[in-house]
Amino acid sequence: MENEKRKIALSLIQPSGTITLGNYLGALKNWVDMQEKFDCIFALADLHTITVRQEPAKMRKNILDAYASILACGIDVEKSLFFIQSHVHTHAELAWILNCYTQFGELSRMTQFKDKSAKHADNINAGLFTYPALMAADILLYQADLVPVGADQVQHLELTRDIANRFNGLYPNVFKVPEAYVPKTGARVMSLQDPTRKMSKSDENVNGCVHLLDDADTIMRKFKRAVTDSEAVVRYAEGKDGINNLIDIYSTITGLSREQIEKDFDGKGYGDFKAAVGEAVVEHLKPIRAEYEKLIKDKAYLEECYRKADDIALRISQRTLSKAKKKIGFIL
Ligand code: AMP
Ligand code: TRP
Repeated sequence: MENEKRKIALSLIQPSGTITLGNYLGALKNWVDMQEKFDCIFALADLHTITVRQEPAKMRKNILDAYASILACGIDVEKSLFFIQSHVHTHAELAWILNCYTQFGELSRMTQFKDKSAKHADNINAGLFTYPALMAADILLYQADLVPVGADQVQHLELTRDIANRFNGLYPNVFKVPEAYVPKTGARVMSLQDPTRKMSKSDENVNGCVHLLDDADTIMRKFKRAVTDSEAVVRYAEGKDGINNLIDIYSTITGLSREQIEKDFDGKGYGDFKAAVGEAVVEHLKPIRAEYEKLIKDKAYLEECYRKADDIALRISQRTLSKAKKKIGFIL
């Protein structure tokens, strides 16, 4: 129905370095597509990044770069809100409150906390531990219905639901209980050098990871060097992790099914297939890179976009925060 209220979809991403093809196909491309169907709220989770020590100048650059890159991917500021988390003070404020409704035991069970504290053993700070309470605040402030997240964030979303239900049990009707939205296609892009592992910017082998802003030659080189198998048949099958990954990347970008791709490359070798995947990625990313180059030079425009979105986000989130505070017993 035309007048039916659209669902609110909300997601944040940490601006912690360059954006990879994995981030794009696994998350950002879906953000762009979701704008057609939902009222979308997106933001850069810059408060979350300081759970790991940051270098100030680099952090500033990463935030602006991420903002420009994500706009370049196709986030439309006329349709969606796209703001910067730290500019909207309600997030930190509700996070404190939710900390008092989240149990130590629950936070201790978070696998990301366990992984990250093993990785940064010299800086296991309280922020790293209570990170999911801030994420819950990000979501619950906007009464979001759907939260598109990767598989690694599903546990945090479950905790958000538990916190919301607990809070609503004490003080009825404050928060909407959100649902995870895990997209069907392109959900997991693997490293081109070790296709049993997720493509990640922290890959020790630079050829394993394609960056959104890599130039055409670099992208082609990385795909040509992609690890495959010795069968030399373009076919999706168990044990063919490298080829499966390339088929999935190609499928997500071209919209062709796995079967169609197998048919199209019947009788052709891996060399041809790798080149075709590389070219499809280059062509797809070309306009994004061009738009990024234009946007990153126009700091005034970027600022105008995020200031406008920051103000609206503050207004929306303030309503939920005030309601929660009033119910708890604060004098407003
Ligand atoms: P990260 O860069 O790990 O913080 O991830 C940011 C977003 O991109 C999350 O939604 C992840 O699930 C998604 N993402 C990161 N790497 C990949 C990948 N290799 N494949 C699919 N999605 C990814
Ligand atoms: N924790 C998420 C990640 O690391 C980022 C994030 C922060 C987020 N707040 C959120 C994602 C709210 C979805 C909704 O990827």
